[in-house]
Amino acid sequence: MAHVDLSSDENYEPETLLTHPPTATRRGLFWSAWLLFWGLVSMWAFATVRFLVPRVSYEPSSIFKAGRPEDYPMGAVTLISSRKVWIVREKEGIYALIAECTHLSCQPRWLEEQQIFKCACHGGQFYKNGVNFAGPPPRPLDRAHISMGNDGRLIVDKGKKVGIDFILQV
Ligand code: FES
Repeated sequence: MAHVDLSSDENYEPETLLTHPPTATRRGLFWSAWLLFWGLVSMWAFATVRFLVPRVSYEPSSIFKAGRPEDYPMGAVTLISSRKVWIVREKEGIYALIAECTHLSCQPRWLEEQQIFKCACHGGQFYKNGVNFAGPPPRPLDRAHISMGNDGRLIVDKGKKVGIDFILQV
């Protein structure tokens, strides 16, 4: 068996063995292909699940029936708590206020004796018509569109905001 004495080789430089650039190996290529394969499979699986799960909103509809005008006494502020809307009946007509403070969305309370809405979170106050007059709320309470259906029942659409002077005459 031939014996090679590297130490006597004039061109032998041990550093070159440590610093020469890595070359692609079959094993590296295999793992890259494997990762690519599973990456594609994952993307395909995600797309399939997205396709199969319907994009449905389970929130209640913004439109709902709120009974007949006669259900609301003259001058009363009635909270429909499941919808977070006050129905206010006045001589001039009916309007719907969204029960959400325009500051940071807490639910104000109607104070019958004082005839105002008061928000406990930061002390915001609103008149009966929704106009803000104290505290940090920057604007009046939102009014929802209200109309009369063919069956004589009120229809409130919380998704459709109307101006502060919007009143349904009944
Ligand atoms: S959330 Fe009503 S005053 Fe701040």
